[in-house]
This record gives sequence, C-alpha cells and structure tokens, in this order.
Amino acid sequence: MCGIVCYVGEREAKGILLEGLKRLEYRGYDSAGVAIQNGSGVHFERAVGRIADLERKIGTRPLDGTAGIAHTRWATHGEPSEANAHPHRDRDGNVFVIHNGIIENYRALKKKLEGRGVSFRSETDTEVIAHLVALHFEGDLCEAVRKTMLQLEGTFGIAVIHRQVPGKIVVARRGSPLIIGIGENCHLAASDVSAMVRHTNKVVHLLDNELAVLSSDEFSISTVQATPIERVTETVDWQADDAELNGFPHFMLKEIFEQPETVRNAIRGRLDYSEGIPRLGGIAPVWEGLKQCRHLVIVGCGTSYYAGFVGRYIFEKLTDIDVTVELASEFRYRRINFAPNTFVLALSQSGETADTLAAIREARRKGASLMGVVNVVGSSIAREAGAGVYNHAGPEIGVASTKIFTSQLTIMSLLALLLGRHHSLSLTEGIEAIRAVDALPGQISRVLSLAHAIEAMAEKYHLKSNWLFLGRKYNYPIAMEGALKLKEISYIHAEGYAAGEMKHGPIALVNPDMPTVAIAPQDSVYEKMVSNIQEIKSRRGPVIALVTEGDEEIREIADDVIEIPRTLEFLYPILSVIPLQLLAYYCAKFLHRDIDKPRNLAKSVTVE
Ligand code: AGP
Ligand code: GLU
Repeated sequence: MCGIVCYVGEREAKGILLEGLKRLEYRGYDSAGVAIQNGSGVHFERAVGRIADLERKIGTRPLDGTAGIAHTRWATHGEPSEANAHPHRDRDGNVFVIHNGIIENYRALKKKLEGRGVSFRSETDTEVIAHLVALHFEGDLCEAVRKTMLQLEGTFGIAVIHRQVPGKIVVARRGSPLIIGIGENCHLAASDVSAMVRHTNKVVHLLDNELAVLSSDEFSISTVQATPIERVTETVDWQADDAELNGFPHFMLKEIFEQPETVRNAIRGRLDYSEGIPRLGGIAPVWEGLKQCRHLVIVGCGTSYYAGFVGRYIFEKLTDIDVTVELASEFRYRRINFAPNTFVLALSQSGETADTLAAIREARRKGASLMGVVNVVGSSIAREAGAGVYNHAGPEIGVASTKIFTSQLTIMSLLALLLGRHHSLSLTEGIEAIRAVDALPGQISRVLSLAHAIEAMAEKYHLKSNWLFLGRKYNYPIAMEGALKLKEISYIHAEGYAAGEMKHGPIALVNPDMPTVAIAPQDSVYEKMVSNIQEIKSRRGPVIALVTEGDEEIREIADDVIEIPRTLEFLYPILSVIPLQLLAYYCAKFLHRDIDKPRNLAKSVTVE
C-alpha cells in the first residue's frame, strides 16, 4: 500500500532514491529500505521508522551504484520490523524485490517453496516473490518476473533487481499503481508521480498485468502474456514545489489554505454566464448517455464518500435524476440490478482506492455507465472510468483530505447544474447558481480569516474526549466529515449525526463535558437546527454553532459561534466544512499529534 521509487541512469542512485522516498513519506509507512546494484553486486539497507532513520543507518556507507530500488512499507503481513522491511531477497542474495500490495496466495506458495527446501527470513507475503523470481531466473530477469506474475494472486506493484543483471530494473503491476518516469539519460519508476517530479514530468503509466524493463537509455513494456506494448508519454502538470510546505507547519494547514485556489481551479474556464451552464469537457465521451441518465449511484470511501453524500442532495435539488450514494466497500457486496440509464459516479482523490476501483469494475460488468471525479491524472480510477472531471487541485499530501473534498463538492455542483439545465432548471436559476459558484473562492478566503478565532476554540475544547457533530440535509454529511477529521488527526472520539436523529439516541450522551458542533446556516432546515441547539443547551451541553454571518438568534444560545458567508443552500457545505477542518487541525496541534501522518492511516488505501 505504500511507496516505491526506482532509478536507473548515470548518476548515483542513493540520493535520488532517498529523496524520492521522502516525497512519499506523507502516505504513512512504518519502515523503509533501499537496494542498489553497483555493477557487480547489490548492497541494501533497511530500517524501522522514518526515512531519516534509514539515512542514519546508511550513514557514510557508500552504497554506490546507478541502479536501485527503494520502498516505504505499510505492514500488512508481519509486524513492522527490520526483517520484514523491504527489499526482500532470495536465499543466495541474487534477487531483490520491493512490493506494494498483498499476495493473497502467499501461504500456498510459501508451503510449496518450503517443500523445495527454501527457508524464509521474514513473515511477509512479499518474500515469496524473491524466491520465485530466483527459481525462474535463467539469465533473463524480465522472463523470470513474468513467470512469477503468472503464479501470483492478489495485488502488487513490484520492482526487482538482480545481482547478475547490472543496469536493469524490472517493474510490474496488478492493482497497485506504478508509473514510469522518463528523464534525461535515466528512467525512474514510482508508485506516485510526486516521487519523480523533481526529475521529470514525462510519464508513462503501467497498466494491470503489464511489466516493464528499465535501463538508463530505454524502457520497454509488455503484458504478462509477452505481448509488447507501445504507450504514449503523458506530461504531468504538478510542480516540484507543490510538494513543499512553503512556510506552513503542516501540509494539512497548507492544503486547507489552498482552498480558494483549488475551488477556483475546479471552476476555471468552466462557467458560462450567458447560458447559465457550466462546460465540462471531460464528460464529452459520455454526454449523449448522460443526458438520458435517470439513475445516479455515487460511490467513494471515507471523505470522498461524504462528498458523494452531499452530492446526492445537490443532484436531487438541481436535476430530475434518482440518486443513491454508496460506500464503495459495501457496494461491491450488494446484489444490485441496475435499471437502464444508470450512471455510476466514482469519487476519489488518489484514483487508486481499491474498494472504489472494485466498485466501478462491478458496475461496468453489470452494464452501468461510468464517470469519475478524480484528482490524480492517469490514475487507475480515472482510466477505468473513462470519462469524468479532474480536480486539478495539485497533490494532496496531508493524510486527512481537505482541499479535495471542497473541490469534489464544487465539481459535483457544476455537473448537477449542467444536467439540471438540460432538465427543468431555468436560465435564471442557472445564472444565479453560476454567480454563487463564482463567488465561492472569495467567500472561502473570508472563512479562512477566522483561523485564529477557531484556534482559540480548539484551545478551549481540545481536552474534551467526546464530541458530537450535528447537521441536517446538506450539512448532515458535513457533520460526519467534521467528526471524521477530528477522529483522524486528533484521535478524539467524535460522532457525526443527522440532527433529527439526536432524540433517537445520542442525546443520552449530552452533558457539560461533551461539546456539540451544530452546523446551522440559514437554510431550509434552520429552524429545526435552532430547536436541536436548544435541546442540547437545556441539558447543559456546550455548543459551538456554525451560522450564517449576522445570525443573532443562535448567537444568544450557543457558547461559541463561527460565522460563514451567505450562499445558496446547496453550496453551504463548501463553506461550512472549512471551519471544521480548522477545528480538527488546531485540536490535533494542541494535542501534539503527528498531523500529516496520523497513526495507523495511509494516504491511499490500495488494499481491501
Ligand atoms: C480522508 O481524510 C481519509 N484519509 C480517507 O477517508 C480518504 O478520503 C479515503 O481513503 C478515500 O480516498 P480517495 O479519495 O483517494 O479514494
Ligand atoms: N504486503 C507487504 C508487506 O506486508 C507489502 C506492504 C506494502 O504495501 O507496503 O510487507
């Protein structure tokens, strides 16, 4: 699930690989390792903990050579230890392999190998790959990896070097991302482009069941059935300093503050005032079908799922389509019979989330049409969906998703508006919506100017160990997202609830020690939210209320108030989530948490 970086060229590989691994640190990992081919042999080093620990261990050891592979591990099989860290090697130390993913049939393979006298050094599933490649090796490393691939079940992105094969790296994938970077007199490969943007912005994506051989001056791709593949090179638009902190203490805070820009990027060039219609080029391949769409199923995981949940209300408001929203991880197990004219919309920042990918594959198999809203260009979900809209929000590095959430909401608003204008929405309604969307970046900046006030609230409440987040309608999923943010990075227990459900259970928890965050802008459910706040206050629960600027009624009853600018009802979530992101951030800061790399979490979840 974690990171791969490879380099083969004319320069020393060590520095390039370690720097590349640092770019992947944000994904969350527990150990790291590197192996370098120096022409006659392979040297390797591994360490538990951070890349800095690996660097310290390497110390002044030369570890020289111009071809190497490096890995950050997020343990799935076997505890985080040096013995389990990658690279793994065969008995004779010829083959070195790094692996992202899970080999599902490793037990059977291990048993067979042990039957042939192979002894294992680690508890990982990965180690079987090294032994298999060694067994299959007859001088051609690519062939040995190909034969090994045929025996593997599960998901993998792998990179392999061999003591007797200088200047060559073989990479292969099934279900775990791997991208080849084309540099000057060198080739790179990585599980994430951000590890390579320093060296090149020219990339080629490896697809499932393909493998590639890289050397300094060439690369070739073929399928596991040995069919050669020609694939066009793509140019990525990320800059190396997109992945820098630029003065912010954490990526999460930087990304929260990037939201005026990322929402602007989501709408740039897409608003047509005269027709009251947005323009979205990426859906052209499915546009004829989309106009006939009667049912929309939105799928995603975690924060992307909550974005989809808000999306359901937005599509219901602006279009005449039936909408459901599903957790991708549950969707794949359901027995669903798609009605004709059903579209499945997949939301994913990374474009690599295993459950979301599986959900769209299942949907395609059953005849639904597909669309994606994805941030990472060329990622698996973007490719497999075939049509959709890119967020163009730059890399999101903080494990807690922030800027992509508001970008997803903005794009879904445009998509719903586009369809709505082909259904019953009038020109005036279209223009009113476009004007409101266009005002969002400026309004987000206003919300961000409240950061200090929100920090003070976090200081007041961060020691409370249970929180409740309440919202209705559009802001019900925002309550859940606010609670998720707090849980993820501060490890405070929080529940996000539909405010109307409060009386059906959670009200039993309310007491002076449990703060409630009530999301109560002046929308169609405002009065109901006011009643809920009253109910909490009568039980002496502290209330932090999120209200529309100028709201006097709630100010009189709530303990703390955060004001957001007025907008159309369906756009409120884009503004109301931002104070909740800040509240979570500052609580985590006061609790001295590892904000960008919270415990147990990985940035993209490429296993089930
Ligand atoms: C968000 O803060 C989480 N880290 C997580 O829920 C995330 O949104 C989820 O794993 C989905 O990721 P994706 O958007 O890359 O598919
Ligand atoms: N399954 C492998 C292991 O536990 C790889 C984990 C990863 O993707 O980092 O070592």
